[in-house]
Amino acid sequence: MRIKYTICIVFFVALVIIEKENRIISRVSDKLTLKQTSQTPLRPGGFSRILLKHNASFPSLSKDFMLMKRRLENYSKHQEVMKSGKKHILLLATTRTGSSFVGEFFNQQADNMFYLFEPLWHVEKMLTLDTGGTNATAAAAAYRNVLQHLLLCDFTLLEKFIDPLPVDHITPALFRRESSTSLCGESVCSPVVKGVFERYHCKTRRCGPLNLTMASKSCLQKDHRVIKSVRVRQLENLRPLAEDPRLDVKFIQLVRDPRAVLASRMVAFAAKYKNWKEWAMGGDVPLDDDEVRKLKGNCDNIRLSAKVGLRQPPWLRGRYMLVRYEDIARFPMKKAAEMYKFSGIPFTSQVKSWILKNTHASKETSGVYSTQKNSSEQVEKWRFSLPFKIAQVVQRVCGPTLKLFGYKFVSSEKVLTDKSISLIEDKVFNAL
Ligand SMILES: *[C@@H]1O[C@H](CO)[C@@H](O)[C@H](O)[C@H]1NC(C)=O
Ligand SMILES: *[C@@H]1O[C@H](CO)[C@@H](O)[C@H](O)[C@H]1NC(C)=O
Ligand SMILES: *[C@@H]1O[C@H](CO)[C@@H](O)[C@H](O)[C@H]1NC(C)=O
Ligand SMILES: *[C@@H]1O[C@H](CO)[C@@H](O)[C@H](O)[C@H]1NC(C)=O
Ligand SMILES: *[C@@H]1O[C@H](CO)[C@@H](O)[C@H](O)[C@H]1NC(C)=O
Repeated sequence: MRIKYTICIVFFVALVIIEKENRIISRVSDKLTLKQTSQTPLRPGGFSRILLKHNASFPSLSKDFMLMKRRLENYSKHQEVMKSGKKHILLLATTRTGSSFVGEFFNQQADNMFYLFEPLWHVEKMLTLDTGGTNATAAAAAYRNVLQHLLLCDFTLLEKFIDPLPVDHITPALFRRESSTSLCGESVCSPVVKGVFERYHCKTRRCGPLNLTMASKSCLQKDHRVIKSVRVRQLENLRPLAEDPRLDVKFIQLVRDPRAVLASRMVAFAAKYKNWKEWAMGGDVPLDDDEVRKLKGNCDNIRLSAKVGLRQPPWLRGRYMLVRYEDIARFPMKKAAEMYKFSGIPFTSQVKSWILKNTHASKETSGVYSTQKNSSEQVEKWRFSLPFKIAQVVQRVCGPTLKLFGYKFVSSEKVLTDKSISLIEDKVFNAL
C-alpha cells in the first residue's frame, strides 16, 4: 500500500513537471490513446483523468510509469542540447542543384556558424570500388557515422578517409577547404609551411596545412553547425542522427527540376554525354541504358527521401524542410528567411547583404562550382540548351519526381523554349 502511494506521488510530480511541455504531453498521450480502448477522447491536459483510470490496475500503472520515467530522462537529455541552443543543419542535395549557392547562405555567417562543404567527398572517394560505384549499404553507414562525428566537431573518423592519411591531425588535402569560411578563419589558420602544396588552399588569407585539432576547437566554440552534402541517398538512413539526443539536427532537402539538372550535367561533364547529344540530334547511336538507369535511380532516391520527409514521421517531426532551387532563385531573400526561421538561427544582415549582392549584382560565372550568378535568369537557361528529345527521356523516367515537386511536363519543343510559359507550379511543401 505504501509503495503504491509513493509511486503515485512520484508519478504525479513527474506529470506536473511535464505538464508545461505540450510536445511531450501530446506524444505520450498519442501513445496512451493507442493503448486505451476507452471512448473518452484525450485532450492535452486531460491527463489527470487517465491517471485515475489507470490506478485501477496496478501493473499497467507501473508500466506506463516506467515508460514515463524513461521519457523524462530522454527529455532532460534533449533539454540540455536545447538549452545550449546549438542548432545543427544538414543541407542535403544532389549534384547540380545549386547547393553550393544555397550553402553560402550559411557559410556567410561564419562568426557563429561552423560550415563544412562536402566533407563526405573523402568518404565516397575512399569507398569507390573498381567498378566506379560504391556499395550503397556500406557507404550509407559510413556517411551517417562521419556526419554524426562531424556534427559533434569530431574529425577523427573523417581523418580515416582522407588520403594521404593526416599526420598528427594535420592535412594539406582536405577537399575544398577554401569553400568553408570556418576552415580559413583566423583561429584555424596555422603558420605557412614551406614546400607543402595545398591544392585547396584558403583564398582569404595564407595558411599552413589544415590542423584538424584547431578546426575541432573552433567548431566547438561556434553556436551552430551546418554541413552540406550531395552524397546522402536516402534521408531514412540518417534517422539515428535525428534521434541522437546530443544533436538537435534539422534537415533541409534541396531539389531542382531533373531536366535542368541533366542539362547542367551535360555542360559540366560534356564528354560523358557525347552519345546523348548525338542521339538527340538523330545520330545513329543508342541511348546509354546505364546512364538512363542512373538517372532514374537518382530521381527515385530524391523522391523517396522527400516522401519520407513530407510524411513527417515522429522522428522527423519539425526537422524536415523541402526547398526547390527554382524558388530560391526567384525569391532568394524570402526563401533564405524561411530556411533560417526553420533552423531557429537568427538571419543576420551579413547574410542578407551577401544574397543581395549575389543574386542581382553580377553576371560573372567562374567555373563549374561558381555561386555568383543572376539567379532568376540562370534558373531558366537550361530550357534552351536541353534537346527536347532528352527532356522527354527525363519526363519518362522521372515522371513521378517531376509531379511531386510541381515541375510541369512539356509536350513540345515550342513549349520547352517558350519563356512565357512557366514550368514551375506554385507549391507549398511545409507548413512552417
Ligand atoms: C485511484 O486512486 C485514488 C486515490 O488513491 C482513488 O480515490 C480512486 O478511487 C482510484 N481510482 C480508481 C478507478 O480505482
Ligand atoms: C530514449 O532514447 C533512446 C535512444 O535515444 C531510445 O532508444 C529509447 O527508446 C527512448 N525511450 C523512450 C521511452 O522514449
Ligand atoms: C555491401 O556491404 C555490406 C555491409 O558492409 C555487406 O554486407 C555486403 O555484402 C556488401 N555487398 C556487396 C555487393 O558487396
Ligand atoms: C595543432 O593544433 C593544436 C591545437 O591548437 C596544437 O596543440 C598542435 O600543436 C597543432 N599541431 C601542430 C603540428 O602545429
Ligand atoms: C537578373 O536577371 C533578371 C532576369 O533576366 C533581370 O530582370 C535583372 O535585371 C537581372 N539583374 C541584374 C542586376 O543583372
